[in-house]
Amino acid sequence: MPRYQTQFLLSALSAAQFPQSAVPEVAFLGRSNVGKSSLINVLLGEPAARVSSTPGRTRAINFFALHVGAAAKPEMILADLPGYGYAKISRSISAEWPAFIDPYLASRETLAACVCLADMNVPPQPGDILLAEYLDSIGRPRIVVGTKADKLSGNQRTVAVNKLRKALGTEDVLVCSAKDGRGIGNLWLAIQNIAQAVRGTTAE
Ligand code: GTP
Ligand code: MG
Repeated sequence: MPRYQTQFLLSALSAAQFPQSAVPEVAFLGRSNVGKSSLINVLLGEPAARVSSTPGRTRAINFFALHVGAAAKPEMILADLPGYGYAKISRSISAEWPAFIDPYLASRETLAACVCLADMNVPPQPGDILLAEYLDSIGRPRIVVGTKADKLSGNQRTVAVNKLRKALGTEDVLVCSAKDGRGIGNLWLAIQNIAQAVRGTTAE
């Protein structure tokens, strides 16, 4: 697993506040309380992103720059997004999200991949499926992660993974836990492969 120096960049509440960037960015998306901030913290090896016991607390996009050593230019940026649909499921994701989320997903030029988190302890949710369809429709690569795997037995995990595969239309579901560290190495590999591919196509 790489060692990065993490730098909290800013907390954006509108598109005007998104940081200027020329490096690959990876966004973490999913229902409120699914474990986005926890997963980011485990990936970074430090409590950079705020974990809240009150679902739906994160209303901004929080940007974290990852530096290798003392390099001024970051290697990549991670973006922690607000969660959707904790209390009620609406037909549209954007109705529940701050208005700047859709433009972020559709227009952020450096966005290399979206890590889509789904809680393995509950059936795939309508919002998870809508998000997957939306990302596919705008051509954004997505990495599907089943979270909180530590709460399930081996058999339950197999069942949950198969449900997620079917609902989200991909064979590639990464099983992760921020609590016991399961799957974190594989998630790093997936993130770095995508970031590397993007760097390869934009190298000067
Ligand atoms: P919002 O910012 O509100 O959208 O939530 P979030 O998706 O960032 O979730 P967060 O990381 O704040 O975690 C929500 C709750 O789930 C916290 O109580 C975490 O401790 C718990 N949690 C997160 N990941 C795991 C996990 O892998 N296993 C277990 N058992 N609990 C987890
Ligand atoms: Mg959060």
